[in-house]
Amino acid sequence: MADIFARKSLDKLMNEADEGEGGGLNRTLTATNLTLLGVGAIIGAGIFVLTGTAAANAAGPAIVLSFIIAGLGCLFAGLCYAEFASMIPIAGSAYTYGYATLGEFVAWIIGWDLILEYLFGAATVAVGWSGNVVSILHKSGIDLPAAIASAPVSYDGGEFALTGAVINLPAVLLIGVMTTLLVIGIQESARFNNVIVFIKVAIVLLVIGFGFKYVNTANWEPFIPQVEILPDGSSRYGWQGIVRGAAVVFFSYIGFDAVSTAAQEAKNPQRDMPIGMLLSLAICTLLYVLMALVLTGLTSYKNLNVPDPVLVALAAAGPALKWLYFFTGIGAIAGLASVVLVMLMGQPRIFFAMSRDGLLPAIFGKVHPKFQTPYVTTIFTGIVAAIVAGILPVGLLGELVSIGTLFAFIIVCAGVIVMRRRDPDVVRPFKTPFVPTVPILGILICGYMMFNLPWDTWLRLIIWMAIGVAIYYFYGRHNSKLNREREAEGISG
Ligand code: ALA
Repeated sequence: MADIFARKSLDKLMNEADEGEGGGLNRTLTATNLTLLGVGAIIGAGIFVLTGTAAANAAGPAIVLSFIIAGLGCLFAGLCYAEFASMIPIAGSAYTYGYATLGEFVAWIIGWDLILEYLFGAATVAVGWSGNVVSILHKSGIDLPAAIASAPVSYDGGEFALTGAVINLPAVLLIGVMTTLLVIGIQESARFNNVIVFIKVAIVLLVIGFGFKYVNTANWEPFIPQVEILPDGSSRYGWQGIVRGAAVVFFSYIGFDAVSTAAQEAKNPQRDMPIGMLLSLAICTLLYVLMALVLTGLTSYKNLNVPDPVLVALAAAGPALKWLYFFTGIGAIAGLASVVLVMLMGQPRIFFAMSRDGLLPAIFGKVHPKFQTPYVTTIFTGIVAAIVAGILPVGLLGELVSIGTLFAFIIVCAGVIVMRRRDPDVVRPFKTPFVPTVPILGILICGYMMFNLPWDTWLRLIIWMAIGVAIYYFYGRHNSKLNREREAEGISG
């Protein structure tokens, strides 16, 4: 019988990482590349869109506090990721950490869950990118036919319907281009990412720097508006609004952990993985808090419930900041494009690790002989993400991406505590400080944010996970390399 709680030793995980057809991945990434990949994945739809809606619908100017709470949850989880990534620097990220600590079944569950973060995350942000491109083209007098710029299926009030459109072509094209780049090479992808990250960070800094001069501090008062009960019985503002706001803006932090999926391509992963994840997180937290202060200072939070809150806030400063409108559009387009790139980088590396363990078909473990990239999983991920982004309504996916990521963060935090007990002597080039306090705080804050997500998002998570359990039951446990080896050795579960 298969032992679903069988763990893999660190030595075994590390030795097997570079086995297989096509050999190993290409170790070229530096600490700078990794940090910029982190920033590339983090700054995107969250800051350019969600800040406004979360301020207007949940927290008011105190959205700044929501950003700090979500940032703290990510910091604690990030410190735990950093310990694992320096200790087990191979491609599978949280999936592999799960295999080492909590056994194969939990590893599969995390791997399956991470599809929500990376594959669905890429599709969701690609659709946001498409919306931005369509709107900028429209302002420049070019109108793309709606039939090729939106999804043919919509989901409203619990029902699916046909919209009359054929495909969201811009989203599909973006995914196609990014997938091609990722097949050609990790270094090429990182270089491209460096350029777009430079553009988007420069634009965020311009908005913060010039916006601050026009802040009207009266807009920050009251900083925490009084609780209001809405007609549907829900409420906004007050402490509850701040926490709900944190659960919403958590989306803007997603992505720093994608850095850990590139561990097998880092030149010096033991040292550079923690740097890449924690530095990118610190840079983005600072930018987010400043951006939230500027946006809620330029105009009343009540005006920010729009798809383009940065533009609305800049417009409140009058003609003085009009020159920034164009750059803001470019910033959003560049920003969202790099998020898609890094998410599409993360997913194949997790599939790749799962395939090497036998939980997915062996073909997924192929490395391209020339480009040294996991090209089969990269192309597979690209095709599935393009179908999701091009055809399905992704509106319902945004919060699913967040809940899935929070779930993975909680397991990684718990994993650090378990691993410290089980294998206290393993070399840990980076050690999470104050264990178990930091992991426990990570679990509590991420758990609290999860708890503040809507019930229907929970339901979708449960359904997704049930599908994952069924696949493991019918496929994974029979094909798992570890279980086959154990059976061959006559070890029963
Ligand atoms: N953090 C990414 C974004 O905000 C997912 O777009």
